[in-house]
Formats: sequence, structure tokens, C-alpha cells
Amino acid sequence: MIRTYSSRAGRLSDTNRKYLDLSSKCLVELGYVPKSARPCALDIGFGDAKSFSEDVLVNQDIIFIGVEPYKKGFARAVEFYEKHLPKNLFLYNGCSIGYLKAAKQRFNFIRIHFPDPWPKKKHAKRRLISKEFLQLLSKRIVKKGQVQIVTDSAIYQDHIEEVIKAQDSLVLAENSFPISYKVSTFHDKGLKKGHTIKEYNLAKI
Ligand SMILES: C[S@@+](CC[C@H](N)C(=O)[O-])C[C@H]1O[C@@H](n2cnc3c(N)ncnc32)[C@H](O)[C@@H]1O
Repeated sequence: MIRTYSSRAGRLSDTNRKYLDLSSKCLVELGYVPKSARPCALDIGFGDAKSFSEDVLVNQDIIFIGVEPYKKGFARAVEFYEKHLPKNLFLYNGCSIGYLKAAKQRFNFIRIHFPDPWPKKKHAKRRLISKEFLQLLSKRIVKKGQVQIVTDSAIYQDHIEEVIKAQDSLVLAENSFPISYKVSTFHDKGLKKGHTIKEYNLAKI
């Protein structure tokens, strides 16, 4: 399978290593199903975990499962969990495609904020958002579930719009996505570059 993320680990600090080695209670395996009756949101690729952590604290009525292969960001999310012990956060260190394929639950919400755009044509195959990926998301959300994709990359916006048209399991939603979010690191970079940020809120047909 073509990888949608770069192999960069980022230089891991001793603190990062400490949290990566910890058997934290927030860590989950493939196929994990939360016991809570609260709605569940899958956050795909939370990056450095800064805005994600704030979103978890602000939206306590939602159970968040964060999936991220990037070790340094993942370590920061575990550190956040250990310092605040939010009851609504679970984490998986790896690829979301594998996580979704193995999932034994349907999610109320799935969000993907600023997926790697892989802007060069020769790298386009690495883009996470594809027709097949949207079909997989649609299988893994509940009937009235929603998917949110946000990006500042004009090339990726064109790509996402083409992919949405090419499949018929998810359509642009009429109602807004109910989970608030803070400006993330990549969101901030996009704003500083003067990019137009586009939000795609999708619902199951
Ligand atoms: C551009 S960063 C955005 C991070 C964060 N969402 C933000 O807004 O700042 C994209 C993130 O997606 C992650 N990613 C890429 N492919 C992924 C996959 N298949 N499953 C989960 N995360 C993935 C990368 O490791 C990276 O941290």
C-alpha cells in the first residue's frame, strides 16, 4: 500500500520517548470500541496535537479517537492525556486506513484537518483523500454521521472536489459540522500564506 505520510519521525526528545514508552490508559488497539454512550469522533492525522488537545477539552460531550502515525505528535498527545486525564480521549499510533478497515464500530463523526496535500503530480497517489477512501469513510459512519475535511491547499481543494463528484456514498452536507475546532498549526500556516481555507462537510446518502 502506498503510504500517505512521510517517514519523518521528527527529532524525539527524552520527554517524547518517555511518553511513547508509557503504557498509557488512552492507548487503544485496532478494533477498539469505546464503552461510553457519548457520540464518537475519529480524528485522522492530528499532527502536533496542539489544537486537537484543546478541541478534546472544549468538546467533553464527544469521545475522540485520534489516529496519527507521526511519533513526535503522538508522544505530545499522550503527554497531554497524562497531564489532563480527559475521559474523552483515546489514541492510536498508526495509519488511519488500517484503523478504519479494522474498526468494529461506526463513528458519529470523522474529521481530517489539513491532510498532507502532496502537491506534486508525481506524488498525487499518496493523497489520503481518494474515491476509495471516501467509500471506506462512508461505511464507517452511522446513518446521520458526518465527515469533515479542511484544507488550505488549492490543488488539494480541486482534487477533493473531483473525488467527491466521482463517488456517490458521501455528499456535501446541508447542516454544519457540530464539533468546534481551534486553529491548528497547519491552519495557521495557511492563514499566514493568505490561502483560502475550505471546509468540506459530508454526509452519508
Ligand atoms: C499536514 S499535517 C496536519 C496536522 C494537523 N491536523 C493540523 O491541522 O495541523 C497532516 C497529518 O496527517 C498525518 N497523516 C498522514 N497520513 C495519515 C494516515 N494515513 N493516517 C493518519 N494520519 C495520517 C501526518 O502524519 C500528519 O501529521
